Amino acid sequence: MDAKGGIELTLLQGAPLEAQVELFAFTTFGDPNKDSIFKSVDAALGGVLGDVAKSEAFDGKTGQAIVVHTHGRIAAKRVLVVGAGSKAEFTNPHIRDVAATVAQAANKAGAATLAFLLPTFGANREPWLVQFAAEGVHLGTYKFGRYFTSDDHKRPMSLKSFGLLTDSKGKKLTAAQTKAFGAALARGTQVALAVNHARDLINEPAASVTPIALAADAQAIAKKHKGLLSVTVFDAKKCEDLGMGMFLAVGKGSEQEPRFIHMTYKPAKKPKKKICFIGKGITFDSGGYSLKPSQAMEDMKVDMSGAAAVIAAMDAIATLGSDHEVHAVAACCENLVSGRAYKLGDVLVSMDGTTVEINNTDAEGRLTLGDAITYARTKIEPDELFDFATLTGACMVALGPYTAGVMSDHESLVRSWLSVAERTGEDMWRLPLTARLREQLKSPIADMRNTGDRFGGAITAGLFLKTFVKDTPWVHVDIAGPASLVTTRPSQPKGGTGFAVSTIVEYATRA
Ligand code: BES
Ligand code: MN
Ligand code: ZN
Repeated sequence: MDAKGGIELTLLQGAPLEAQVELFAFTTFGDPNKDSIFKSVDAALGGVLGDVAKSEAFDGKTGQAIVVHTHGRIAAKRVLVVGAGSKAEFTNPHIRDVAATVAQAANKAGAATLAFLLPTFGANREPWLVQFAAEGVHLGTYKFGRYFTSDDHKRPMSLKSFGLLTDSKGKKLTAAQTKAFGAALARGTQVALAVNHARDLINEPAASVTPIALAADAQAIAKKHKGLLSVTVFDAKKCEDLGMGMFLAVGKGSEQEPRFIHMTYKPAKKPKKKICFIGKGITFDSGGYSLKPSQAMEDMKVDMSGAAAVIAAMDAIATLGSDHEVHAVAACCENLVSGRAYKLGDVLVSMDGTTVEINNTDAEGRLTLGDAITYARTKIEPDELFDFATLTGACMVALGPYTAGVMSDHESLVRSWLSVAERTGEDMWRLPLTARLREQLKSPIADMRNTGDRFGGAITAGLFLKTFVKDTPWVHVDIAGPASLVTTRPSQPKGGTGFAVSTIVEYATRA
């Protein structure tokens, strides 16, 4: 079920052992017998918890969990202990998976009410843990289930109320804590709703998430935030007037009309900076005449994950508010094969006048992004420009499926971006924009060609984009790997992940 208010998140106060809930949950880091909470709960339960831990070889490792019935010995009906690994290595974002595990266990146990005692890491980490725990609850209960027809998949979740306890001693919250934690809960919920919305857009088949559908989605979000958020959508004719020769060429082979989406958030006060987030919006990538083999094409509905991320993030940004003027741009189309499709050897004229010889129609993302970048640079003139794109398989070869490749020539901008990503726990790693590889993009008949050689493929794609960026401070994020995954973790089921949404929101609203 989606997170739209499905589970209510609340702050609880009072002694953990007195919480009037169906399930009481807490974490242990390593050996439970060294954990004071574990010991006190075990004592209250007459040693049952320790017995179960022993018989199930529970030693507080990540991914381990035990559930025991309390038989009325404490207020809660059951107790859940979740292993959280090494305390020294536990960073704030790790709590997402723990909270997700707790929410899932509650649903499995059929519990409607729950109290989760947050682990203690000092006051300065508390609001972060509260925010990320809230995210974990919504992210971990996300399901893309609309195409299942059996009743199993339609059963509503049992969990209705997820209560957070922040003090193991049951001390009353101060007014400042209540305010800070309440804001963190709300923020976590908004971020997770945006991530889950991006997941929905990614998981939905290309037959329904067309460029027109993405534009409608952006319009619906803008409507929700009237006065703060506006959107303009350009059709093919308007894009032609703007000279977007690369973008239009990619979409030509499809019956689905292209749409160029531009969302604008304006703060009430004079904005500090103008930030633009561009997302790659290929609603299906067949490869075009450089056709992908079937297996590589199978999941290519996800090729609009960048667009989904920037569009969905705008919803949370408008709700949370930003001191900056924030733009989201997505050039959306389908890369298909037909009598009208663009061909190898074609020479395209981009919006900035650069001519590009096509030596691979499967390197379509950089073409659509190139024109989106020129649009942003000349029409928006942002202080900072970011792009998010499922751009190259080469980036996955370099970094594996979980890590995005980050490329930039702007030291301070890329550093501040990476530091925000570190805070939100999204895996990103910088790759160089090796100037010498630029050679590979030379064409015998045009200003450049669209692909280089196999080696360094993520970087030549970045260098291609850089041509259009010129001097604008810019960071390129290749999300081909983490945008959609076949492996799971508690806060992330298979499929579209909504990668980049939380860092975009954090960057736009708090940096
Ligand atoms: N959309 C793909 C990249 C991709 C691959 C995204 C796997 C997600 C998972 C992109 O348009 C593409 O086809 N890139 C080519 C570039 C090559 C032709 C230079 C690639 O990576 O093979
Ligand atoms: Mn492609
Ligand atoms: Zn693509």
